[in-house]
Amino acid sequence: MSDPWKECMDYCLEVTKEAGKMIRDALQRDISIMQKSSPVDLVTETDQKVEELIISSIRKKYPTHSFIGEESVAAGAASVLTENPTWIIDPIDGTTNFVHRFPFVCVSIGFTVNKEIEFGIVYSCIEEKMYTARRGKGAFCNGVPIKVSGQEDISKSLVLTETGFKKDPEHFRTMMANMESILTIPVHGIRSPGSAAVNMCLVACGAADAYYHMGIHCWDMAGGAAIVREAGGVIMDVSGGPFDLMSRRLITASSRAIADCIAKKIQPFPCGRDDAEN
Ligand code: IPD
Ligand code: CA
Ligand code: CA
Ligand code: CA
Repeated sequence: MSDPWKECMDYCLEVTKEAGKMIRDALQRDISIMQKSSPVDLVTETDQKVEELIISSIRKKYPTHSFIGEESVAAGAASVLTENPTWIIDPIDGTTNFVHRFPFVCVSIGFTVNKEIEFGIVYSCIEEKMYTARRGKGAFCNGVPIKVSGQEDISKSLVLTETGFKKDPEHFRTMMANMESILTIPVHGIRSPGSAAVNMCLVACGAADAYYHMGIHCWDMAGGAAIVREAGGVIMDVSGGPFDLMSRRLITASSRAIADCIAKKIQPFPCGRDDAEN
């Protein structure tokens, strides 16, 4: 069997399309908003319903597989990634965007086996862009191959980052100092589209040259990591070491030169790990 996970990916595509439609339909109605860890960390009924739909559909077909879903993980609890085939699900990446109807809202799913990402699907469902990538098979947007810009000169780059939800003074100072340090290189600009997975896809298709972030989760990164890697991008830890899905941090870029330059410019701050209690 040369490609045992293709059937899982094809099935996942159908479920993801259904989830995307559910999100688009929800945008036509009033959105009732709830708070999670803070007044700026939001969740809606749609986040929960979409996750239920995805997990129940996939579990019906693959009852022995494991699941890590943002809305199913108890606040602060550890997520265990094992060798078992595992679906890592963010039902709505960009909940704040969803609440404001700001158009970068996606479903993000990454599938791991032996802790390696086999495929990723990110459906930016308002734009109707379906990003897909399978290990060793390239990356696509709506079936058309995509690749990173290949830019090597950071001073000609567009860089993405996000401010996240944690805003204690020390975290905030480091985050602002990091942005200042990148802006004064100078780069062409910094953008914050508000969805980690969309950010990775923007790097993957060459619309941006880099994305860095500390404090995100495995469900923010799993789908997009497959896509950016298969599009020829670099994905690594903020220390310059190998990318670690459970580390809550990443740099991804169109070239090693840009990723290394960002790693030198930013100062990491403690953000815990997904596989430990936070
Ligand atoms: C968030 C988005 C946002 C990032 C946050 C994430 P959510 O995911 O990816 O861009 O800044 O750190 O938690 O909560 O909308 O799924
Ligand atoms: Ca969230
Ligand atoms: Ca997310
Ligand atoms: Ca989410």
